[in-house]
Amino acid sequence: MRSSPQELPEWISTGRLPSEAVVQELVAEAHRRFSRVEEGELAGYIPALAAANPAHFGLAVASTEAQLFEVGDAQVPFSIQSISKPFLYALVCEAIGEREAREKLGVNSTGLPFNSVQAVERADDGLSNPMVNAGAIAATSLAPGDTLEAKWTFIQQGFSRFAGRSLQLDEAVYASELATNRRNLGIANLLEEQACIWFDPEASTDLYTRQCSLSVTTHDLALMAATLANGGRQPQSGEKVIAPRIAQLVLAVMVTAGLYETSGDWIYDIGLPGKSGVSGGMITVAPGKGGLATYSPPLDRSGNSVRGQLTAAFLSERLGLHLLASRPVGG
Ligand code: DON
Repeated sequence: MRSSPQELPEWISTGRLPSEAVVQELVAEAHRRFSRVEEGELAGYIPALAAANPAHFGLAVASTEAQLFEVGDAQVPFSIQSISKPFLYALVCEAIGEREAREKLGVNSTGLPFNSVQAVERADDGLSNPMVNAGAIAATSLAPGDTLEAKWTFIQQGFSRFAGRSLQLDEAVYASELATNRRNLGIANLLEEQACIWFDPEASTDLYTRQCSLSVTTHDLALMAATLANGGRQPQSGEKVIAPRIAQLVLAVMVTAGLYETSGDWIYDIGLPGKSGVSGGMITVAPGKGGLATYSPPLDRSGNSVRGQLTAAFLSERLGLHLLASRPVGG
């Protein structure tokens, strides 16, 4: 079933965050609790990421009203990696229209790891979803512009609008990843064979790698997530980055595929759209309320930050964010 775009009715109800004092206390409590967790491994397949400090732990919550709650290493920069995927999809949807974006990229989960080649081979139509590497490389190829540089300007400026400041490339991560990018190039070439990429496969992979190498902080990611929570309007700058309808669609694919093959566990436990990245960043979006971001480099076997997942589960429960939870009328 495919419905057409509609205006959101004014009685859409998403609730609100608890008081500032409660949020502040719970954010501090989450940081204290999960600082002690030592499990997980650094991403080894991108040499620059293997050099990260495993002790770094940043946590930030940004409300849709632009309140910010930060603790720990929330100002330490790191490369955005796969957390770029929802923002790229948002910008591409806005540029080419939601219908074309869905038809060209797909919105169903693959149930397979983020860099699966098998997922591309197995799909007769070559479609996956924009949260895995195949769909994200294909989405990159759809960025407006006739040249690599024009597309890059579109992406870099769009991401900066989400963050509310000009985001720059982490040149060391970009060079490191470009030198070890054979798998993503393979995926792009397969997409070409299936007529599911709309720009040169090598140039599209380069652009995708650049976008993954944009340098952000946990603070930036909380505001970027809060923009998705706020119908596409950046809470601090007030800029309308994307339409409310597009924000809603991006959150839908984050629910089904944001944590790849463990997206089922994620929605079960946390009950919110989320997205992880192999540098150790993670965002969780509470529609109408705000965005949570964490940075902690040690990852589980699916490439998701261990402390990030624990923090999201704790704060989702304590802040009352789980989208599927309800209280019976009358107690
Ligand atoms: O394409 C890659 O492999 C990386 N640039 C990004 C992968 C990633 O972040 C997966 N996330 N958890």
